[in-house]
Amino acid sequence: MSKKLNLPIRPRRNRQNEAIRSLVRETALLPADLIYPLFIHDKEVDEAIDSMPGCKRWSLDGLLGEVGEARAAGVKAIVLFPAIADHLKTSDAKECFNPSGLVPRVVQAIKKSYPDIAVITDVALDPYNCDGHDGLVVEDEHGQPSIVNDETVHVLCQQALCHARAGADVISPSDMMDGRVGEIRAALDEAGFEDVLIMSYTAKYASAYYGPFRGALESAPKAGDKKTYQMDPANWREALREAELDVMEGADIIMVKPAGPYLDVIRALRETLELPMAAYQVSGEYLMIKSAAADGWIDEEAVMMESLLGIKRAGADMILTYFAKAAAQRLSASHTNL
Ligand code: PBG
Repeated sequence: MSKKLNLPIRPRRNRQNEAIRSLVRETALLPADLIYPLFIHDKEVDEAIDSMPGCKRWSLDGLLGEVGEARAAGVKAIVLFPAIADHLKTSDAKECFNPSGLVPRVVQAIKKSYPDIAVITDVALDPYNCDGHDGLVVEDEHGQPSIVNDETVHVLCQQALCHARAGADVISPSDMMDGRVGEIRAALDEAGFEDVLIMSYTAKYASAYYGPFRGALESAPKAGDKKTYQMDPANWREALREAELDVMEGADIIMVKPAGPYLDVIRALRETLELPMAAYQVSGEYLMIKSAAADGWIDEEAVMMESLLGIKRAGADMILTYFAKAAAQRLSASHTNL
């Protein structure tokens, strides 16, 4: 017979059953924490996206149906990403502020059907730019493409105004140009849109995890990479510097992207700043879970929930995730986090 240990402190007491575990649980994930990124295109039919199983490029009707389902499960915010027809892509990206373009039309339709859904729009030039970069491209003296900052910010302001006029609740610049938050804030305020929020991609890394997304929009850069504007994956202090600037320039919500591989950055910003913080579980993070589950290697639902809970635990208040609808449905059905 083995002897009882003299152990007054037994952490396992707090784990003995689900009722006790749910009392001591430190982090709660809610459907309202989730923001649903949705791809749209100017076609009558929905199209499956090869690089992102389970996601679609939605027609307007399909999109309204999908938003309705996500809303029924408790999701309260969506973010739109447009796939723009090739013939509309130009080097000045001017389709991005066309008042009858795809994004403004879709924003109006969603706000009409679901006035209580927060509509977030992405501000960056890559879907509209024939070069596939988030900013305007000019050739430098060596014939190398160079992404110009200040000229780009001017176009981003026009894009933001176009979205605000269509009824967007939140403008979300994902381009990583310097000074764009302050300039967009000033442009919105001057036009009377002082109630429109700015959710800034504060620390957006030059990440290989964006590959499947660029497949979805056919928006990969034609030449070069995004390393002169997106952040170096090796750096976290630089994220604090970007965040300080976003605070001074008037951002309402800051964001870290990707999420899972950058939990330390989420934690560092959480400990330093008061602003609400979003984290973006990007296409590559989604695809890794989807494809491992499709092959039967992992339990998709369990890993989906654990990945989201981990991002929340690290300090994110809200999470952009392609799992938003599925996770919200699971949360509203099970009344538990895991
Ligand atoms: C581009 C943009 C990207 C994503 C969101 N906005 C791609 C990029 O910067 O190349 C990536 C999202 C994802 O991978 O899920 N402005």
